[in-house]
Parts: sequence; structure tokens; C-alpha cells
Amino acid sequence: MIGSSSELEILPEWVHAAERVLGQPGVVVLLGASDSGKTTLGRILTDIWTAAGRTVGLVDGDIGQSSIGPPATVALAILSSHHPLPPSPCPHVLYFVGSTSPPGHFLPLILGTQSLVQTAIAQGAEIVLVDTTGLIRGAVAASLKWHKLQALRPQHVLALQREAELEPILRLVEGQSDLEIHRVPVSPKVVRRSHAARRAFREARFREYFASASRDDLEWKDLRFSRLWLNTGRRLGREELAVLGVSLQTMPLYAEAAGEEGLVFVRGAFSRATLYQVRNALQVSDVLLIDVEQLRGTLLGLHDGEGAFLALGILHNFDPEQETLRALTPLQDPARVRSVAFGSIRLDPSGRELGEAPWR
Ligand SMILES: Nc1ncnc2c1ncn2[C@@H]1O[C@H](COP(=O)(O)OP(=O)(O)O)[C@@H](O)[C@H]1O
Ligand SMILES: [Mg+2]
Repeated sequence: MIGSSSELEILPEWVHAAERVLGQPGVVVLLGASDSGKTTLGRILTDIWTAAGRTVGLVDGDIGQSSIGPPATVALAILSSHHPLPPSPCPHVLYFVGSTSPPGHFLPLILGTQSLVQTAIAQGAEIVLVDTTGLIRGAVAASLKWHKLQALRPQHVLALQREAELEPILRLVEGQSDLEIHRVPVSPKVVRRSHAARRAFREARFREYFASASRDDLEWKDLRFSRLWLNTGRRLGREELAVLGVSLQTMPLYAEAAGEEGLVFVRGAFSRATLYQVRNALQVSDVLLIDVEQLRGTLLGLHDGEGAFLALGILHNFDPEQETLRALTPLQDPARVRSVAFGSIRLDPSGRELGEAPWR
């Protein structure tokens, strides 16, 4: 987060890059390691561009150390000289990613970033600045950044680096026509944050988001599900469940078979020793067995009938027998929810991270 303006260092190379972008407006992707000052530079740049009369879309693609929306989402804020960036900006639009770290979530992260860049342009942004996660080293990082750059096709890449840490990524796109790469230095004033401080930051953002939340009941019949691909197959009747129950040594609450895959919910302990019998009974080659108690706390993305993001939720109670679920959410009007995306992390209502969701 930004310090008071008297402590803020603004390097001449940054101002030069800002002016180059003003001369050739378009999409700008900001790359840099964790704690390289990306978010702070993003604020400096949006101030310069809005002061020059431009409408700026700021897309926050950092799903961990989020600066606009809550973590696990990509967020967009539209700014102009009439609407400068407040200290804690209100997001105009959010896209649900469902995790605070990119591995395993490239598709929603890249699609979400691309979708919000397009929204920003459609809403009149002349310059769209994309802040990114600090994942820059190694093959996984190269893959993420390369695909992101392919999807966004930016006019500018702002590479904030201490030494040459971004060169392996920059090499992937260097020489691409219509792309200008600006290599700019990191401010020595950047403060590095510990792993614990980053976690505390995410928890505080979630806590703030859910501060005014209440519990709402949702019925399956009104919903579509994604990420946990529920309600896509043939639901088993009571007698078939009883057969599964013999193998599992507990009566399952619900089971369905979709193609080669089965999905079974139980409550409490069950026997994994006879999973092959469960596969045989369902006539599938793969089965996902979930204890519903372990689903509590799963981060949910609540969407309307058009697939537009409405709000985050925290799964409180999941009842496959009654085909209902109860979620904690700040959403004012839960009747608008038509689609529920299951995230990959679990939280308690105070924002504390409880680990991965059981079905990953
Ligand atoms: N230009 C700057 N001048 C003074 N302090 C800075 C500057 N850039 C970053 N910082 C400090 O470093 C910390 C991390 O910067 P941040 O922009 O959040 O990095 P990143 O987004 O790359 O993780 C901030 O909390 C801020 O206090
Ligand atoms: Mg940041």
C-alpha cells in the first residue's frame, strides 16, 4: 500500500515511460517480482494519466495481494480526473478466480483479466493498466505470463526489475510488432513483506469484505454449479445409494454419474479401501468422494443468470439430501444468484485461511 506522498519516490524512468504511454495509449501490462513496487507504480501512473485528462482502467490481476477487490478475484476500477483513485478504490467489476495463487487457475485468471480489460475499453478507458502477481520465476511463471500476454496483446509492457529477473519472460515477446517494452528500475524505498505479512494482508481483505455478510439459503433447483461439476450427471436413487453404502461403510447422502466420472457425498468418515467397488457400482473409471463437512468454508463465486459476478460467499452448510446450501455473503439480494462457482480455498468468516478445498 502506498505511503504518504512525501515518502513516495517517483523515478524519472517511470515518468518517461508514463509519457510514452500517453503518446501511444492502449493496454499496459505491469510485470515485476513480488515487492517490486508494482501496485505503487500503478497508482503513480494512473495519477499521471488521469491528470493528463485520460480515462484509465486499472485491472488488478494480483489475486493474492489484491489492491482493488478482495483476494481470489480480478478487479477493475475506472478512473479519470473526476474520479481519481481513492486510497481503497471500489471495484466496478469483479471476476471470480477462486484461489489466491495462480497455479491450477490459469484459465480463470487469464480469462478474467482479458474480460475486464475488454470491459474497461467498452466503458471508455483509453489506457488500461494491468497489475499482475509477482510470479515471475520458472516455467510455470513463464507459461502464465506468456499466455496472458497472448490474450491481452498489450501495446506496452512495463518491466519493473532489480537486475534482469524479467528477461526470460520479456524474451518471449520481444520484437512482437505493436509492442513496446519499457524496462524500468525498482525504487530502493520498496519495503519487502514476509510470507506471514502477505497472509495477514489477504485475511484482512477478506475480513473487510465479509464484515457485513449474512447467511442465506440457496436451493439447487435454482442454480448451476461450476468448478465442482455438480448436477451434471444422472442422480442415483435410494436403492443404488444403499449398494454404495455397503462398500463405503456409511450411507452416502448423494451420488451422481456423469460419463466416466462419479461424484459421491458422504457425511463423516468413510472407507477408502473399497473405492474400486464404488467405481464398479457407478460404472465409472474415476470417482470423487467428498465429506460434506470438509466443504465448509469453501470460497464461492456467486453469479447471476448471465454469468456476471455478484459477490463472494463462504459455504456454511452443504446439504445434498435437501439440495440446499447455506452461504455467508454480503450480497443484498440472494434471489439473483443463478450460478455458483466453487473456489479452491477455504476460509472462516474472519478471513482466516483454512487451506485447500477437499475436491482439488
Ligand atoms: N516508489 C515508492 N516509494 C516509496 N515506497 C514504496 C514505493 N514503491 C513501493 N513502496 C513501498 O513498498 C511496499 C511494496 O510495494 P507494492 O507497490 O505493494 O509492491 P508490489 O505490488 O510489487 O508487491 C509498499 O507498501 C510501499 O510502502
Ligand atoms: Mg501489488
